[in-house]
Amino acid sequence: MKIAILPGDGIGTEIVAEAVKVLNVLDLKFEMETALVGGAAYEAHGHPLPESTLKLAKEADAVLFGAVGDWKYDKLDRPLRPEQAVLGLRKNLGLFANFRPAICYDELVSASSLKPELVAGLDILIIRELTGDIYFGQPRGRRTALDGHFPGAEEAFDTMRYSRPEIERIARVAFEAARKRNKHVTSVDKANVLETFQLWKDVVTEVGKDYPDVTLDHMYVDNAAMQLVKQPKFFDVVVTGNMFGDILSDEAAMLTGSIGMLPSASLNASGQGLYEPSHGSAPDIAGKGVANPLATILSAAMMLRFTLNQPDAAGRIERAVKHVLASGLRTGDIWSEGSTRVGTREMGDAVVAAITTTKITK
Ligand code: IPM
Ligand code: MN
Repeated sequence: MKIAILPGDGIGTEIVAEAVKVLNVLDLKFEMETALVGGAAYEAHGHPLPESTLKLAKEADAVLFGAVGDWKYDKLDRPLRPEQAVLGLRKNLGLFANFRPAICYDELVSASSLKPELVAGLDILIIRELTGDIYFGQPRGRRTALDGHFPGAEEAFDTMRYSRPEIERIARVAFEAARKRNKHVTSVDKANVLETFQLWKDVVTEVGKDYPDVTLDHMYVDNAAMQLVKQPKFFDVVVTGNMFGDILSDEAAMLTGSIGMLPSASLNASGQGLYEPSHGSAPDIAGKGVANPLATILSAAMMLRFTLNQPDAAGRIERAVKHVLASGLRTGDIWSEGSTRVGTREMGDAVVAAITTTKITK
């Protein structure tokens, strides 16, 4: 088994280093190879996703990814911006199924901006389709408008599109995931306005017939955005398209009060996966040693469970993280009165220490 380590930019290098430390202490048999991605790769090779990095990611069983991006690249041509590395990896590896759990840890209930009773015990799994929709739909571009409100004016356009098989496969992923959880899928669409999402709704409904044990409901995306803050515990598995999933997953993450805690996985049809924290590169705190490494450490646990077939090792990491939180250690993002503030490295060390104590291994 081989893991490609792509730390990226900003806090990416600091948090990935902690996850690698945790993986090393588990003493498992796999090879790790590191490569540049994002702005760091652009600086060194002139491209955010160099051929060599893409090749490594393709031949690896799993990719552990940090984060990419920095304001200083905002003026580059779009194909050279760090974000293109993320999109390029998703497209080239066919990573269509994106899992974004939003779990509110008991110890962190008070960190949420919502009332404690609304979020205590919250456990939502957002499944976002990741290789289609308006993100990748062609045609797109700029041109002179021939019609519309201002013929002759400069205009830009993107194309929202989904094919039946694309919807079918992500729907199956969602129903299968729900079977292992609370057997409830909410499919989020905009079928009242968009043809693309009428097809989405029709296909998800059809696939749902193969899963009579799973409750399926449909929700318009605007209502879903509202229900997420009104009664978040209504949701179990949420399945939606690429753009709605982008937006709703940030909203859901913040319900837990701690985007610095949330891992994510992006899988392709052969089970190969890219694992990354749900948060970004946070250039404002990069290099200061204060970033929370737990989302990346938990992403490594997801990687062990989903792709590397090491559920025991994954469980050890997850229990160690809970243990560390219970002991009161907090990075700045999750700090509250009465807890102990620690930096990135100390947090990683604490997880390593918890893993190596017999209490956690059993
Ligand atoms: C995400 C990010 C990306 C997206 C960007 C960086 C391209 O926001 O993973 O949610 O929009 O998908
Ligand atoms: Mn996003």
